[in-house]
This record gives sequence, structure tokens and C-alpha cells, in this order.
Amino acid sequence: MLFVYNAFLVLHFIGLAMLLGGFMVQMSSPDKGVNRTMLEGALTQLVTGVVMVGIASSGAIDEKMNDPVVGIKLLIVLVITVLAFIGKRKAPPQVALWATIGALTIINILIAVFAGVVK
Ligand code: HEM
Repeated sequence: MLFVYNAFLVLHFIGLAMLLGGFMVQMSSPDKGVNRTMLEGALTQLVTGVVMVGIASSGAIDEKMNDPVVGIKLLIVLVITVLAFIGKRKAPPQVALWATIGALTIINILIAVFAGVVK
């Protein structure tokens, strides 16, 4: 089961690259907004994160989750996903939405690394 967990962790990093990459690539564009890659990256983060927590909580692998950190990350990614859906339906520029999603993504990285998702 560790192999499956690690496979989802790899997908989690790919989702992170999509979300942050979709944000970063627009840094010098006057038409900043929410692109498809950002939305798909957010959904990838949500699904892969929940699957990893599910596998760990089932006791199939020897990892204990840091529940408050998981809860905060989940809340933030839900906000990102809602904002990405809203932004995707509107024509660019959507600078405020774009910036908020980028900032929340970076906050989630900082929380994951400094607070630790796993105990
Ligand atoms: C924008 C959304 C997210 C970002 C940017 C993000 C970022 C990260 C990063 C950078 C790591 C690696 C941390 C490390 O190894 O030190 C990580 C790991 C992890 N994240 Fe996320 N994450 C997001 C959403 C979520 C969500 C919603 C969940 C669960 C509900 C989640 C659960 C996990 C888990 C279980 C790990 C694996 C820890 C391990 O086994 O080393 N993540 N995430």
C-alpha cells in the first residue's frame, strides 16, 4: 500500500506544479486570470490529498497524520477550488482572484513544509 500512497504523493507534486505553474506563467501578463491548469491543479491537490489521508487513516501504512494541519490544508484548497471555478467562468483580467489563489497556494506549501502534514 505504501507504493500506492507514494504514487499519490507524486501526483500531489504534479498537481502542485500545475496550480503554481499556471499562476506563475501569468506573472508578466496584463491579462492575469484563472486558467484551466490552475483549476485542474487545485482539483488534483484536493483529490490526491484526500486519498493519501484516507490511506493513512485506514492504517494501511505506518504514517500518522497531523490532523489540524490536514484540516487547514483542506479548508484552504476548498477556497482555492471555489475561487478557481468562479474565475474560470469569467473573462480575464481577474487579477484579484489570480493573486489570491497564488497566495493561498504558497501559504499551503509553507504550512505543509513547516508545520508538517505527517507526525
Ligand atoms: C493547494 C493545495 C496544496 C498544496 C500546495 C500542498 C502542498 C504540499 C507539499 C509541498 C507537500 C510536501 C510536504 C513535505 O513532504 O514536507 C504536501 C504533502 C502532503 N499533503 Fe498537501 N498540499 C495541498 C493540499 C492538500 C490537501 C487538501 C490535503 C489533504 C486533505 C493534503 C495532504 C497532504 C499529505 C497527506 C501529504 C504527504 C505527506 C508525506 O507523506 O510526506 N494536501 N502537500
